[in-house]
Amino acid sequence: MNTSLAGHRALVTGAYGTLGTAICRRLRADGASLLLVGRSASRLDALAATLAAEPFAGGVSPPGLETVAVDLAATNAVETLAAVVAAAGGLDLLVNNAAIQGPIGPLWENDWEAWQETIRLDLLVPVALCRALVGQLGRDGRRGKIVNISGGGATGPRPNFSAYGVAKAALVRFTETFAHEARERNIDVNAIAPGVIASQMTQAILAAGQDRAGNTEAATAQKALSGDGGAETKAAALVSWLASAASDGVSGRLLAALWDPWSTLDQRVEELAASDIYTLRRIVPEDRGRHWES
Ligand SMILES: NC(=O)c1ccc[n+]([C@@H]2O[C@H](COP(=O)([O-])OP(=O)(O)OC[C@H]3O[C@@H](n4cnc5c(N)ncnc54)[C@H](OP(=O)(O)O)[C@@H]3O)[C@@H](O)[C@H]2O)c1
Repeated sequence: MNTSLAGHRALVTGAYGTLGTAICRRLRADGASLLLVGRSASRLDALAATLAAEPFAGGVSPPGLETVAVDLAATNAVETLAAVVAAAGGLDLLVNNAAIQGPIGPLWENDWEAWQETIRLDLLVPVALCRALVGQLGRDGRRGKIVNISGGGATGPRPNFSAYGVAKAALVRFTETFAHEARERNIDVNAIAPGVIASQMTQAILAAGQDRAGNTEAATAQKALSGDGGAETKAAALVSWLASAASDGVSGRLLAALWDPWSTLDQRVEELAASDIYTLRRIVPEDRGRHWES
């Protein structure tokens, strides 16, 4: 199973966030060159300096590290990144990781501008990046790879987080759909559910308080922030596996980093492709052992 990323180039949005940092660290350790994308130039530089000092696999010369300071909410952000990627000579992997939590609380109390901005940042920007970069993915005969980071609300209702949940559910359905379209271009497109991570997003839930977020959400955020962390490391390992040749042909799936046997899925590529396993589907009574007459 070839999991080396030596010679690969990856673009990671939200690079200096909690999960973004873990993903960048793991991709570099596995040998990939990185385009680090974020809003703050100084935080990108700090991340690049940290990564430059870390060990890497697969060669004598260190993998490249480039920073691109861009606000993804800006109208020309996607064009800017497409130009950077073209100048770099294309990509092997796009990781749509940047996101915002959006308004917390019942819909009628949500600021409408903030709700729409959440859909834009968490759904439309990742989709626009896939669209803009699809022609630049896949180098040196390798398959191109896209990993979209999903999140809470994608697979079931998440009250008080409607904008975030709707964006993440749509991102998963987009992933399934685009995987079919991108197959003819030899690009694998997957989404991952990283599990609960202690980050500024989790802090936003605590700051909103249990009256707005709900008891379960507040308790989960509190637990994550007072725990040992570590979920992001497993999610980063899954991203690296999806970036590697080991996962070739695994596409159109939502994989849970903490729960799914993803590292063995290379043995099930055809079985997966012929099934709806790890996808979003409508449940009918028969799926629950019931038979309702019309
Ligand atoms: N935390 C969790 O429990 C959890 C669970 C499931 C899924 N996820 C997903 O995991 C991913 C990473 O989240 P995280 O928990 O690591 O949170 P995080 O630390 O807040 O990371 C989010 C990143 O997105 C960046 N970002 C936000 N708006 C941006 C913009 N307009 N332009 C450029 N960058 C922007 C942030 O940069 P700034 O700091 O400059 O804003 C930050 O680097 C997200 O897709 C999230 O939905 C998180």
